[in-house]
Amino acid sequence: MHRFLGVLVVLVISFSASAQKPDLDAEGHAWWQHAVFYEIYPRSFADSNNDGIGDLPGITSKLDYLHWLGADAIWIAPMFPSPEVDWGYDISDYYNVNPDYGTLADMDRLIAQGKQRNIRVLLDLVSTYASDQNKWFQESRSSKTNPKRDWFIWRDGKGPGVPPNNWTSMFGGSAWQFDAATGQWYYHYFYPPQPNFNYRDPEVEKAMFDVSRWWYKRGVAGFRLDAVDVMYVDSQFRDNPIVGTEKNALGDPVESEIYDKNQPELHGVLQRLRKVADEYNAVLIGETWTSDIAQLKRYYGEHNDEVQMPMDFMFATINKLSPADFRHQIDWIEGSGEWPVYVLSNHDIRRVYDRYSEGQPDRPSKDAIAKLMASLYLTLRGTAVMYYGEEIGMENNDPKRPEDVKDSQGRRGWPKEKGRDGERTPMQWNDTANAGFSTVAPWLPVDDHYKTYNVESEKKDPQSILNYYHQLLTLRHTNKALLDGKYIALNEDDPNVLAYARSYKGENVLVVLNMSATEQSVRLDLPAKKITASKAKTLTASYNAQEKIDLDKISVPPFGALIAELQ
Ligand code: NOJ
Ligand code: CA
Repeated sequence: MHRFLGVLVVLVISFSASAQKPDLDAEGHAWWQHAVFYEIYPRSFADSNNDGIGDLPGITSKLDYLHWLGADAIWIAPMFPSPEVDWGYDISDYYNVNPDYGTLADMDRLIAQGKQRNIRVLLDLVSTYASDQNKWFQESRSSKTNPKRDWFIWRDGKGPGVPPNNWTSMFGGSAWQFDAATGQWYYHYFYPPQPNFNYRDPEVEKAMFDVSRWWYKRGVAGFRLDAVDVMYVDSQFRDNPIVGTEKNALGDPVESEIYDKNQPELHGVLQRLRKVADEYNAVLIGETWTSDIAQLKRYYGEHNDEVQMPMDFMFATINKLSPADFRHQIDWIEGSGEWPVYVLSNHDIRRVYDRYSEGQPDRPSKDAIAKLMASLYLTLRGTAVMYYGEEIGMENNDPKRPEDVKDSQGRRGWPKEKGRDGERTPMQWNDTANAGFSTVAPWLPVDDHYKTYNVESEKKDPQSILNYYHQLLTLRHTNKALLDGKYIALNEDDPNVLAYARSYKGENVLVVLNMSATEQSVRLDLPAKKITASKAKTLTASYNAQEKIDLDKISVPPFGALIAELQ
């Protein structure tokens, strides 16, 4: 080979290897596999200029706290300019920051300050639909011949006042909106002011890939991908079959969504979006609502070339303390051969604190359950995505009066459906007015329990939920078995206690979670799982556990969690 050519080949090979291969640890794990992600709802995290609205400088001011807690990456829900029809999930400009939250310079500062503390910043890519105020949609709607007409989904109606087909919006009513300017209907899976992009026009994906590149270049470490399952619709626009005669909660017929959801073409876009992400060693988290493991598995990609972190919401839809149900979900994802991504709640899901403690008579039981749930998803093999405030036991603070509701879903559904404001209330920092979030009344009311449940007070209390999270996260970051160990289910018939081991090169960590309201004695059948151990040493526990555990008689109090090293 010509000498120059040889050097070139070596250069090209090493460049492409370094461009595509993220830094892996000895076990072949990328940074995000052992990271703990922390979702921030920017409007509600910290208000730096006291206008009642959280903002980017507010987040920056709390990075030391997040670092102390053990968060490795933050995912910020949409902070782009938006008319706020769906609180940020209606983006009018993908290349800027909502002035309520600050400026691009504030974002740069947040990223840089995060870097100094090893906290990566991820944004929310709402790439399935835009706001109707977005200039791309404004152009598209202006005339049938506009070059961006096909960027959105336009159709003729079936007749005057009759939409093109029977598809309904997830937020109620027809998914089609008539636009008098051109006499056609546009498609919106969510609210009418959220027109869906048409990914059958290749310019759309190019535009979205450019958006992602632009933010990667600013230092963003990845994206949470919003609503990927509805990126594509059927090319023939066939009616969805109607299931039964009952109406759903919004008064619409129940449809089997075979033509407006989960179209196979979406996986092609995700693969190409992933290629762009790989150029920047970035990570993609999927908002992947799936009904079974086969569907979830598809999002990883046949060759692991789609979304690295599709969130397993099937796990989050277990709403009761049922060892059997959790075992089943864990077995599913473990058996799939993929890297699990666990999440218990977010800005669309009722907070953990309420969900699992329904019917409990007192605060100590509820607090114990909060610690129990943390012990579950933070000791499993996989990546965990936390939701702000969960670590201090924040609970839902649902609106009491219809006039207070901010989430349109709650306005439409009142009183049956109160919307999602309850899980989006201001972070509770201390016991002063407005929980230290702001000096003025915040955009959503602070929960009444903030005087006890707040960062400052809980930091001082060794038994607090916050200090328990801190201990757990510290352990999770340092314990080899918890980092890399395989998951071994134990005592699979126990209806009250979920028990498992994490095992790595002879190091075994035992996790025993009592999901019942009574004390439980547990006899582990370790030999059945080829684990040899006679005793255990407590690493952390949600109750006052003895340091040395006799494996013949483990006794765990109601809703107690024990994490111990097998010896
Ligand atoms: C997913 C977001 O998580 C949710 O908050 C939003 O309402 C929907 N996308 C529709 O925009
Ligand atoms: Ca503010």
